[in-house]
Amino acid sequence: MESFNVVVLVSGGGTNLQAILDYTERNSIAGIRVCHVISSQQEAYALKRAKKHGIPTSIVEKQNYSTSREHMEALMRIIDRAKADLVVLAGYLSILQEPLLSQYGGKIINIHPSLLPQYGGKNCYGLEVHKQVIENKEKETGATVHYVDQGVDTGEIIQQRVVSVFPEDTPEILSARVRKTEHRLLIEVIENLAMEEKKRS
Ligand code: GRF
Repeated sequence: MESFNVVVLVSGGGTNLQAILDYTERNSIAGIRVCHVISSQQEAYALKRAKKHGIPTSIVEKQNYSTSREHMEALMRIIDRAKADLVVLAGYLSILQEPLLSQYGGKIINIHPSLLPQYGGKNCYGLEVHKQVIENKEKETGATVHYVDQGVDTGEIIQQRVVSVFPEDTPEILSARVRKTEHRLLIEVIENLAMEEKKRS
């Protein structure tokens, strides 16, 4: 069976990456294969997770390139070589630009820990998202998987899932609850995209 090749871009802990890796090891029906992990940070723990599963890794740090174009071309070389069917941003903190966006239009997805379009954008990531949700006394928050466009957290929404917010929540507690939902949602979206691709081919 043809595999559905996924390249995962990370910057940090990589629990979403871990969820994808665990899923692919248990389920073969959609043929999903994580074929490469790219990190924007040398220290990202996600790299250790990838190595433990025997997945090839690369570190592509923005500061090593003099222009955004060169940075994007470096990423593209790796993604091209991996013959990616899908690029997944799983806690990736760098902003993707041209020519990568056009080259992989409709094939790059991101996961965000809120119900976008609320609590998204350039300065709203990590614990800050959950802090703002709590400050605004929201009763519900959630997770969103969306296509990546030239904006930050603005691309077409693929799927969302609601998570309850409780009065005693701290940003850390809420983040952990949302994270669990993210893992399930991300896998579900990747699986759906792989199955759709399978039907098309
Ligand atoms: C997740 O909350 C994700 O939605 C956001 O960054 C976080 C990454 O977490 N984009 P992890 O590195 O997968 O644990």
